[in-house]
Formats: sequence, structure tokens, C-alpha cells
Amino acid sequence: MADNGGAAGNGAAGNRAAGNRAAGNGPTGRAGSALDIRDLAAGYGNVAVLDNVTIAAAAGTITAVLGANGAGKTTLLRTISGSVRARAGQIEIDGMSLVRRAPEEIARAGVAHVPEGQGVITELTVEENLRLGLLLRPRRERAAAIADAYQRFGVLGDRRRQAAGTLSGGERQILVIARALLSAPRVLLLDEPSLGLAPKIVAQVMDLIARLRDESGLTVVLVEQNARSALEIADKGVVLNLGRVVAESDAAELAADVGLRRHYLGF
Ligand SMILES: Nc1ncnc2c1ncn2[C@@H]1O[C@H](COP(=O)(O)OP(=O)(O)OP(=O)(O)O)[C@@H](O)[C@H]1O
Ligand SMILES: [Mg+2]
Repeated sequence: MADNGGAAGNGAAGNRAAGNRAAGNGPTGRAGSALDIRDLAAGYGNVAVLDNVTIAAAAGTITAVLGANGAGKTTLLRTISGSVRARAGQIEIDGMSLVRRAPEEIARAGVAHVPEGQGVITELTVEENLRLGLLLRPRRERAAAIADAYQRFGVLGDRRRQAAGTLSGGERQILVIARALLSAPRVLLLDEPSLGLAPKIVAQVMDLIARLRDESGLTVVLVEQNARSALEIADKGVVLNLGRVVAESDAAELAADVGLRRHYLGF
């Protein structure tokens, strides 16, 4: 993965240059850059949150987006998936622009967003919750997709008829990730998957995320306050502070930067 991390670092600079040349003119990212965010601004009402955010996520890598409370991490994911409108800048997936598109179109373009909070519908069974992830899939593919999810996530198969409200926090997190994967995304946005989980379970969830990259070539944007755990599996780390990118580099390099860690990451 070191090669990918290095390429991602170089690519960010390359993409900024490409963005200046041809903003909004179709595929400008370097080959292999699944998600390209350039000079992005977004906010709520009169509140400006993101300012001039540029991030390139290479295909088949994990990009950890870190930063303190209120840094704009959740707003970034919401802007990518279309529930918050971009005020300026560009977001592209495999060269296709996502700005000003409806959330459903963005989902169809291959972006799946797992919001913060392990949100399952507690009264529905595990299987009924999973089926909500199939709405974008053609009917003929649905049975096989569910069978595949149970094969990959055995714990969900064992509990398929159980109300989702009876699952542990870790199991719920697996369920929401599995549900997101059922739309067959190319880019998975995860908002604080470790929140509220015991350290042992956090490690399992991080392992699962790393496997999704390694086995399925998924491109993951991993928002975390748990910077240490996220950087252990990430290829690249981006630090947001007050809506701006203050650091972007190889994950191992970031984890080794004591000053930056103390200042922004709290470990
Ligand atoms: N719906 C909203 N309306 C107005 N301001 C908002 C809204 N949602 C978030 N904000 C503000 O935007 C800023 C960024 O919030 P955001 O939730 O993106 O931060 P975050 O990095 O995800 O924080 P946390 O680590 O606490 O989840 C904060 O100042 C927050 O108060
Ligand atoms: Mg948040």
C-alpha cells in the first residue's frame, strides 16, 4: 500500500494543477483517482463551513479525514453525497461531476454514504434493513446480493430474522456498512464508524474496512475522530481544521508527525 499512498500524495498536487486548467471539463483527475475534490466550498445558510477543500482519493485506497469537533468532516461527506449543496468547487467520481446533482443521482453514480450513528431501523429485522440497500439494484441481482452479504458478514446471516434493535453497537455498524455495500458503490463514505464502540470492536470494524479495500478494491473516505485507529489502516490522511485542509499526506507520515498529532489530532 506504500506505493498507493505515495501516488495519492503526488496526485493531489497534480490534480490541483489539472483543476486550474480545466475545471468542470470532464475527466481531469490522474488515472486511478476515484474521487477528486477541488476548491470545494459549502455551508449552511449564512454559515460557511468548508473553504477551498482539495482532496484526491486514489482508487482502491482509504483516505482518512481527521480533525476536531466542528472541523467540517461530516459537512464534507454530506456535500459529496449531495445533501449539502456545494457553493463552489468541483467534486468528481471517476471524472464525472457530482456537483448540483440530487443525492439519488450521486448514489447511482457509485457513492454510498454511511452517516454517523449506526442508524438502523430498530423495529425492522436485519434482513429488512439490508433490503433497503437494494433499492438501486435491478431486481434480478437482489437475491444474489443478499446471499453475498450473508457470506461476507456471517454475523448478519445468523441474525437475519432478529430485530435490528437487538444488535450490539458493533453489529449495527457492520449492518449499516453491509447495507451501503449492497448498492455496489465504487466510493464508500464512512462517518465515524468507531463512535461509541469498545476498542476491541473498533479494531474489528477497522479490519473490515481495510478488507473492503484489499479484497474489493473499494475507495473509502473514512471520517474519524479516532485518528490513531484510522491512520493504522489508511493510505492517506487529511486533516481538516475550521473547514480547511491543514495537512494532507501519506498516513504513516502523518501518524509520525508528533507536532501535528498533538495540535490537531489529540494523540
Ligand atoms: N445543519 C447545520 N446548520 C448550521 N450549522 C451547521 C449544521 N450542521 C453543522 N453545522 C456547523 O458546521 C460546522 C462543521 O460541522 P460538522 O458537523 O461538519 O463538523 P464535524 O467535523 O463533523 O464535527 P464532529 O467531529 O463533532 O462530528 C460546525 O461549526 C457546525 O456547528
Ligand atoms: Mg461529524
